[in-house]
Amino acid sequence: MALDLPALEQQHADFIKAGLKLDLTRGKPSFEQLDLSNALLESIDASLVSKNNDDGVDLRNYGGVNGLKQSKVWFADILGLPTAQSENNIFVGGNSSLSLMHFSLWLAFFIGFRDNTASWQQEAQEKNSRVKMLCPVPGYDRHFALCEQLGIEMIPVALTGSGPDIDQVQQLVSQDPMIKGIWCVPRFSNPTGEVYSEATVTAIAQLGKIAGNNFLVFWDNAYAVHVIENDAPVLSNIAEKAAQAGCEDSILQFASSSKMTFAGAGLAALASSQNNIQAFNKHFGLQSIGPDKINQLRHTQFLPSIEAIHQHMAQHAAILKPKFDTVDQILKQELGQDNNLGKWTKPTGGYFFSFDSQQGLAKTIIDLAAEAGVKLTPAGATFPYGRDPNDCNIRLAPSYPNLEELTLAMKVFCNCVKLATTKATI
Ligand SMILES: Cc1ncc(COP(=O)(O)O)c(C=O)c1O
Repeated sequence: MALDLPALEQQHADFIKAGLKLDLTRGKPSFEQLDLSNALLESIDASLVSKNNDDGVDLRNYGGVNGLKQSKVWFADILGLPTAQSENNIFVGGNSSLSLMHFSLWLAFFIGFRDNTASWQQEAQEKNSRVKMLCPVPGYDRHFALCEQLGIEMIPVALTGSGPDIDQVQQLVSQDPMIKGIWCVPRFSNPTGEVYSEATVTAIAQLGKIAGNNFLVFWDNAYAVHVIENDAPVLSNIAEKAAQAGCEDSILQFASSSKMTFAGAGLAALASSQNNIQAFNKHFGLQSIGPDKINQLRHTQFLPSIEAIHQHMAQHAAILKPKFDTVDQILKQELGQDNNLGKWTKPTGGYFFSFDSQQGLAKTIIDLAAEAGVKLTPAGATFPYGRDPNDCNIRLAPSYPNLEELTLAMKVFCNCVKLATTKATI
């Protein structure tokens, strides 16, 4: 389809004149989604706060660094782990799983994750090499920022639609013992929305067998229960597969309630082998005398079972689905699917769309959108070091704006895609 450049330019000028201020940058829950959890703000059963709880402690006081018993069961349910394992295999902390990832990376890098294991840094010094990590792309910019802070060399690996290219992963890991970890967002990946296949999960669970010493899979299951479509693929259980392969010590699973309840006042968890959790407790206990246990109780009372959690997430889905449908419909209407303007897939859960423009156009499109009042995640942000080698990937985050704002933002975006593509082909 030939596009009419003057008409596209006129449309763009009209959008600029309208003085829009729209934002599709970060995956934040909307106002209505946050309202779904307002019952958390109401008083909790006060009789449980002082000693009359499963832990038999006064929740108002210091202590219990690794979390309340019932909050560990809560996360075991979310991650599909047996309740019996929750006590020794889960750590529940404050409101950010990212901070647990940061601490884990820091522990492995500087100290050695478990007692009697060498730190990554020490091994790198001895071998006169660098610590490296595999980064499936496009991926989550904050994972990459954590690596960059420690000078960890990031090696991009292509995502395939059902997880990272596992042949490439296995080849790299088996050839270079200084590859010490891999980042994974296994369900509704940020930003592609893909869910790792069973074969991929099985292979990742066993990487510890072919990798160098002290290899860690950072299994960031941030969207474990964040289903939007009923037919969303289920994720295989990596803990079971790792246990079968004897690789439990190489799997760190993270989850949080940030996009279930309040992003700024929720709970986060790390699940791993008993050895790893013991070591984590010991080191984390140096920087905190205990988490907000009252908030942990509040969450488990508000959503007292996995069924209640799924029902609550269905309410989120009812708010998110029209937004995801809108993005998909406008992309289809405005760009069509056969005229090479861009590629995307509609996710069945999570928070993002991943859009690929023609090569070399992402930055131009994002700059044009900014000019017309629509902020998008910076070009390259979904790649290590902010460098998208094809300059084509753009992350769209539809959750925060209302439907009217989202519709307008997507129309502006599509016009920018058409304008940039048409100019590039003249
Ligand atoms: C993949 C992924 N991991 C972690 C986070 C942040 O999690 P938390 O709020 O628990 O720190 C996000 C937030 O967007 C995310 O997309």
